[in-house]
Amino acid sequence: MVSLTADMSPLHPDRNLALELVRATEAAAIRAVPFVGRGDKEAADGAAVDAMRAFFTTVDFDGTIVIGEGEKDNAPMLYNGEKVGSGRGPQCDVAVDPIDGTTLTAAGRQNALSVIAVSDAGSMLDASTVFYMDKLVTGPEGVGVVDIRLPIGENIRLLSKALGKPVEEMVVSVLNRPRHEQLIQEIREAGAGTRLMSDGDVAGGINAARHNARTDMCVGIGGSPEGIVTACAIKALGGHIQGRLRPRDDVERQKGADAGLKFDDYVYEADDLVRGKNTIFVATGVTDGQLVGGVRREGDFLYTESVVLRGASGTLRWISSEHLTSKWL
Ligand code: FBP
Repeated sequence: MVSLTADMSPLHPDRNLALELVRATEAAAIRAVPFVGRGDKEAADGAAVDAMRAFFTTVDFDGTIVIGEGEKDNAPMLYNGEKVGSGRGPQCDVAVDPIDGTTLTAAGRQNALSVIAVSDAGSMLDASTVFYMDKLVTGPEGVGVVDIRLPIGENIRLLSKALGKPVEEMVVSVLNRPRHEQLIQEIREAGAGTRLMSDGDVAGGINAARHNARTDMCVGIGGSPEGIVTACAIKALGGHIQGRLRPRDDVERQKGADAGLKFDDYVYEADDLVRGKNTIFVATGVTDGQLVGGVRREGDFLYTESVVLRGASGTLRWISSEHLTSKWL
């Protein structure tokens, strides 16, 4: 049973915080709009970062960025370790991805999102020293059924059985990268179809875990920050997520080891990626996608679509907002 009082404690991120944070992802998505399809991903990201940071100052929480735009020296704002929020309210770990899909945004392609994830202080894995993570994400039916250590074909068969769906109807999403050539071949040999994503595996993971989604599983190597952010959302969906860190070279491996991270066959389970259930995930569409629509301009109004997921209550909320264009652009 859901405890209605569990999130009333000022020590934990609560539902008000979740709704406040949507304002920040909405702002970031709106500010990125002039850069959609303009070929400059840094400018798009910069505009989204500025907007998100400005909104953070108006929100009552005591946040520390665990996953941000990078190290302080390279990222003047929203850097790892930066304090965000008013300083009043619950102490939280914060992950930001002002735009997941900067290349998509610059190209004017689908599926770019502005994202914030929050959890109790000290609960997010800081995997910032290692760029890539191998991930396996499914909906609740996959919990206790699939395992990242198994061959992909076996996981497809196991999930198809759990879903009561023929293998031929299964769809597995995976980033379309040369590194996934073998994986894609094995998915198809197992009899399932693929949905190849050009970017944006946060939306890919959430879509795979959602009830009634068009994909059943999201697999493959993507960013490790995106893995932690996805885990915050999966907690609310009751789904399955596992990750294995994949250092790109010996320097990254050494940095990761110094930070206490584990590699190779070591599997990070959902609770290792983000501990506990007090997670919040909010995202606003920058460009249209299967999860949410992108920012739309119609004359005097800008329309945004967002999703809010809360681990404590297991809820997914869709938020559509109308903004006066004159206030923004
Ligand atoms: P950016 O918005 O930072 O470009 O990330 C987009 C993304 O596709 C992520 O969703 C994904 O996890 C990662 O890049 C994959 O990295 P790569 O493009 O190096 O394969």
